[in-house]
Amino acid sequence: MSTNAVLDKKEALMKEAISAQEKAYSPYSKFKVGAALLTKSGKVFTGCNIENVSYSMTICAERVAVFKAISEGHTDFEAIAISASSNETIYPCGACRQVLAEFNPKIEVLVNHDEKSYSLYDLLPKSFDQEQLNSKL
Ligand code: THU
Repeated sequence: MSTNAVLDKKEALMKEAISAQEKAYSPYSKFKVGAALLTKSGKVFTGCNIENVSYSMTICAERVAVFKAISEGHTDFEAIAISASSNETIYPCGACRQVLAEFNPKIEVLVNHDEKSYSLYDLLPKSFDQEQLNSKL
């Protein structure tokens, strides 16, 4: 794919994250987050954060996108774009990094207000993985 086509694809994914952000249910924090998860087959699953009056029941936009995809039978992920109602760049929380690492420890992470993209491996180099689980005595 040409450099321009790759850039267009990333921009399109970020646009989907930004529009997913509008669906956020975040009456408590008033912080809206959107995510758009791209599968290797080219399908996009979006997610927004969903809060609850029992605060700890809140779920992040990234995990909503992953769980939607998994529940529809998609497990091969190439990239995720994340945006939020903030002028600051928002990076995925630790819990979401671990959930993403389950399916692709090197998934490309695109974040709003930052031209660079990151490999999840740089954001979470030592995730708990199946090898560690299988090392049990
Ligand atoms: N949030 C996300 O959706 N994703 C993140 O990566 C960080 C935080 C949400 C959870 C909560 O609804 C709000 O942002 C404030 O923490």
